[in-house]
Amino acid sequence: MVTRIMAKILSNKNIASDFWLLTVGDIPEQKPLMGQFYMLRAWDAEPLLSRPISVFDADEGTVSFLYQALGRGTKMLSECKAGDNLALLGPLGTGFSGVSGRTALVGGGAGIAPLYFAAKTIRPGGNPLDIFLGFSGQPMLEERYRPLCNTLTVTSGGFITDKVNAENYDYILACGPDAMMKTLAEKCRGLPLRLEVSLESRMACGLGACLVCSRETRNGNKKVCKDGPVFNAREIYGP
Ligand SMILES: Cc1cc2nc3c(=O)[nH]c(=O)nc-3n(C[C@H](O)[C@H](O)[C@H](O)COP(=O)(O)OP(=O)(O)OC[C@H]3O[C@@H](n4cnc5c(N)ncnc54)[C@H](O)[C@@H]3O)c2cc1C
Ligand code: FES
Repeated sequence: MVTRIMAKILSNKNIASDFWLLTVGDIPEQKPLMGQFYMLRAWDAEPLLSRPISVFDADEGTVSFLYQALGRGTKMLSECKAGDNLALLGPLGTGFSGVSGRTALVGGGAGIAPLYFAAKTIRPGGNPLDIFLGFSGQPMLEERYRPLCNTLTVTSGGFITDKVNAENYDYILACGPDAMMKTLAEKCRGLPLRLEVSLESRMACGLGACLVCSRETRNGNKKVCKDGPVFNAREIYGP
């Protein structure tokens, strides 16, 4: 069930260059699923649209978001202080499906955000899990990801996809720049594994009503906010 929530900000910390980690409380019982997101709004009228941000972590009554302060909306988010109110709509979207067997999580830049909650969800099932995080600048949050996996590989500059041996896995879940996910899809072509990719798109309603986030796929036009943001890579990049 999607809920409109007026949440209280518990903390909002600058953790590296333009990356911030925001935690809110007062979240109703329903826990998000891995790969889902919320529409966030820390302002009244302007900017018009709320901003979609993935669930970085969720616990009883709290949700955390890892975001890059890029433009007007996310910079306004970064100015919020503990005790301020934040309007949330969510949890939204279709996230990662369940995994079994050998799994890799591959993230680039802000795309590492949904993979922390994915790792926390997958790991207790006992699945062997490797995590690959790629950054263009200074790496961050390695100490949070390391206890959740068998191996953690981090790159600063270069291509994180060069480190992934796709033959080793039954599942790969990925989030990052389109070029990164396209390269992964090429590496996985012909292999008996499932690659799932979390896509980004401009969004307005976040609920499947406005078509702003519509994306062409092999199975016709899909709404990134409702049919995704997570898709089987074959649907996006071909078999
Ligand atoms: C499902 C989903 C989950 C997301 N999760 C996260 C997350 O966990 N952490 C995070 O840092 N970001 C995430 N994003 C991206 C985030 O929503 C955008 O960076 C944000 O909306 C930009 O808003 P702004 O007001 O700061 O930027 P604007 O002023 O609107 O734009 C600033 C710059 O960012 C670009 N931009 C705007 N929106 C997007 C977008 N959706 N994707 C790519 N570039 C964009 C613009 O073209 C422009 O160059 C997610 C996006 C989606 C669709
Ligand atoms: S953002 Fe409105 S349909 Fe997806």
